Amino acid sequence: MCGIIGYWGKRDASKVLFEGLKKLSYRGYDSWGLCTSSENRFSISKAVENIEHTDIDFSRFAGNIGIGHTRWATHGGVSEANAHPHLCPLEKIAVVHNGVIENFQALRTELKSKGHKFKSETDTEVIPHLIREYMNQDTGFVDAVRTALLRIEGSFAVVAINAEDDIMVASRRGSPLVVGIGDNEYFAASDIPAFLEHTKSVMYLYDNDVAIINDGVYVYNLSDMQPVRREVDSIEWDVEKSMKGEFSHFMLKEIAEQSETIKRASEQDPEKIKRIATWINNAKGIFFVACGSSYHACLSASYIFSAVAKMHINVVYASEFRYYKNFLCNETLVIAVSQSGETADVLDAVKTAKEKGSKVLSIVNNMGSSLMRTSHHTLHMNAGPEICVLSTKTYTSQLAVMTLLAYACIGNHNEGKSVLDVAQNQVYNLTSRSTRDHIKGLADILKDKDNIFTIGRGLQYPTALEAALKIKEVTYIHAEGFAAGELKHGSIALIEKGTPVIAFVSPVNEKETVSNVMEVKARGAYIIGIGPNNNEIYDYFIKVPETSYFDPITQIIPIQILAYKLAVLRNCNPDKPRNLAKSVTVR
Ligand code: AGP
Ligand code: GLU
Repeated sequence: MCGIIGYWGKRDASKVLFEGLKKLSYRGYDSWGLCTSSENRFSISKAVENIEHTDIDFSRFAGNIGIGHTRWATHGGVSEANAHPHLCPLEKIAVVHNGVIENFQALRTELKSKGHKFKSETDTEVIPHLIREYMNQDTGFVDAVRTALLRIEGSFAVVAINAEDDIMVASRRGSPLVVGIGDNEYFAASDIPAFLEHTKSVMYLYDNDVAIINDGVYVYNLSDMQPVRREVDSIEWDVEKSMKGEFSHFMLKEIAEQSETIKRASEQDPEKIKRIATWINNAKGIFFVACGSSYHACLSASYIFSAVAKMHINVVYASEFRYYKNFLCNETLVIAVSQSGETADVLDAVKTAKEKGSKVLSIVNNMGSSLMRTSHHTLHMNAGPEICVLSTKTYTSQLAVMTLLAYACIGNHNEGKSVLDVAQNQVYNLTSRSTRDHIKGLADILKDKDNIFTIGRGLQYPTALEAALKIKEVTYIHAEGFAAGELKHGSIALIEKGTPVIAFVSPVNEKETVSNVMEVKARGAYIIGIGPNNNEIYDYFIKVPETSYFDPITQIIPIQILAYKLAVLRNCNPDKPRNLAKSVTVR
């Protein structure tokens, strides 16, 4: 997703747009751009950087009408040319867009056949070219925008301006767009924070609404241009609150987004997935390389590749990878997994791999990242920016992408997609308010504990490790994950009366895991069972329906919520835990 903003009013548009984009950078920050209109011409600036960390020379801009964009690339890499706004061939129409145009290749081909030349690799750029094409056929600006948008298949929130007219047009289908109504000034933006400092009067546009803004806001139905009435609400939030919507912290917001982000992660280009699967199948020796939660996702993926594709994939901490370099050759494939794409240990590991001639596939969330630029191929997790320091939605997105790859390696990409649809629906239920309330009860029981142990077998083992990390890093309770069968080889000495042990159980390993649970229960442990079936030995049970290979996605959800609830109860900051950084760019 990304952030778009339009301004029509009495102020210096560039200042309003620049500050508004900073408030939207949580929606995307790999590049940004803004454009103002005055005396039939545009002033425009674009940059490949996070707008939060920059300043501009406002004297370069003129005009009280303008549009701006902070990008989270989906089509076309991160570059100045691909940053929005995008212009028509005459540079008199400017457009910013949030969404994905599914038929952009066909539209580009059609427009190229009419002599259009494109300056970017984005899907978005077809919009201003289509508008120009219709205006060349004597269609007025508003009708040309409408006709262009009716050609679009996919999602959009769009704001368009015309250097030769003082009208701003805003429309949406499948991406958010709200209108701010000030004193003789109007705003159109992806989210309220963009203009909340200027007005609290907000009009939410619905899908297929088109708003024409000049000396007021006039809303019509895109299809037939029939006028529609939209309520104007008064917002009582402050800016910080409005970025989190109904949620108190980004951590809970991002946990709740996972049903949607798992769907987005699973919607990879089938042809690209097929090509990469061939690459994996032809490799002689494959390594997953990652850190922290991404490492746990890779460990889970190694079990899934073993079960689904009958493949052995080595899993190595990025910081340890250099000690394996003697195993690398030009037929080795290294799969580097990193949501930030900036983790120094991962970048070092990739450098080692490339020095030995190995190929590198990366799975990243940040398309503008160093890891993406240094890899031979990249798959995008499409989770959108993750603001909370803890990895939650990006962890499950990584699992979704790697699960899809495992199925693609046996030619069953569609089966992988459909089983992820099941997981996505389960996650929707697991992030519901009723489940969150049930988990709050467990948090009340655990909030004063000094130690928590997590155990699991098979696919539940990496989940146990990730669970321990989630609890540790945000509640500061010492938590440790074990392979369930390993506990009795020494660590069971730590179990005392009331020691909490969280057991992740799946029907495929239930008998053995329950037997390990009995061993700690016999020593007084307080048992929390997580899985499809309750058991009388559990002191607390959280039901997570069986989804077989997708247990790592579903079974971590209750723990993410538990970690959040515990952090709040213990007055820890869920979004910014002590000592941690969102991206560990040091070695
Ligand atoms: C996860 O909650 C932690 N924030 C941390 O372990 C993180 O997963 C690790 O630093 C790797 O980050 P990356 O995915 O951006 O490489
Ligand atoms: N698809 C457009 C692009 O890649 C918009 C991306 C977005 O909405 O994040 O530039």
